[in-house]
Amino acid sequence: MDSVVKVCVTGAAGQIGYSILPMIASGQMLGPHTRIALALLDVPQAEDALRGVAMELQDSAYPLLDSITYGSDPREVFRDVDLAIFLGGFPRKAGMERKELLQRNMNIFKEQGQALNEVGKPTIKCLVVANPANTNALVLATNAPNLPKRNFTALTRLDHNRALAQIAAKASVPVDQVKNVAIWGNHSSTQYPDVNHGTISGTPIKQVISDHHYLHTDFISSVQKRGAAIIEARKLSSAMSAGNAAVNHMRDWVTGTKPNEWVSMGVVSDGSYGIEEGLVYSFPCTCNEGEWSVVQGLHVDEFSREKMEITKRELIEEREEAFSS
Ligand code: LMR
Repeated sequence: MDSVVKVCVTGAAGQIGYSILPMIASGQMLGPHTRIALALLDVPQAEDALRGVAMELQDSAYPLLDSITYGSDPREVFRDVDLAIFLGGFPRKAGMERKELLQRNMNIFKEQGQALNEVGKPTIKCLVVANPANTNALVLATNAPNLPKRNFTALTRLDHNRALAQIAAKASVPVDQVKNVAIWGNHSSTQYPDVNHGTISGTPIKQVISDHHYLHTDFISSVQKRGAAIIEARKLSSAMSAGNAAVNHMRDWVTGTKPNEWVSMGVVSDGSYGIEEGLVYSFPCTCNEGEWSVVQGLHVDEFSREKMEITKRELIEEREEAFSS
């Protein structure tokens, strides 16, 4: 018999919502044997748009879509949810200071964390996409002390996918031949996309791509700045690729990563690789039976260590700003 999984999407009336909801409802996230109960959250001002999205989902007649509920009260919407994808956040406006963006989003995630603390299932899996994703996830987790910290993650799979695609293009190979790149740190321009352990068709990336200068410079900055390049080109932030990456993240977390392959996930650090415990930091991870684990024992050279520290320091600063008031 098909099971029903309740999936919550916040900010569901926004542009990433419009991209991701068809993927979830059509079975792209949890496969063809899992029915989906959608629970959609957005702010009261988006109520009409949310109702329209729900009508379109209904009109798509997805065989796996069991039910759709929606509202603006997180305490109602989060009830009985198995998987929650947090797209809703305050978007950065022209001239807005980073600190101001952080502060506004902190209030949203504080309130949602408190709601999760009251009504969240102990087994809920949460993925934060809204920026600043890592620190938003930390605020969410901190305000839901009744739930295990392991239940809270941030999206860096988008950066991981971008890194795979850049390497595939450089080596002129299909993207599925590239494995085990890693994104370390923050989903921001300080992140460190690392190819030291990756392979192309089973051969180390650094053997196939002899231009190591590229791997240490333009490759890293192109992944770090890809989000900004898309905003510049589209005048909107990424939505299709962000939705796809969120679906990839949740699918692998729930159903497991492939043998000998890892993915990148922002998770609460347990101190691995010298990253301060408690920070939401992106690590290479494997997933098995619904649990993620940080890949252990990777050699970290001096170049990588320096980059990993830069992005760690940014996360510590964000944490200080987020919890300063
Ligand atoms: C992205 O990476 O595309 C988004 O997080 C947008 C951004 O601000 O970079």
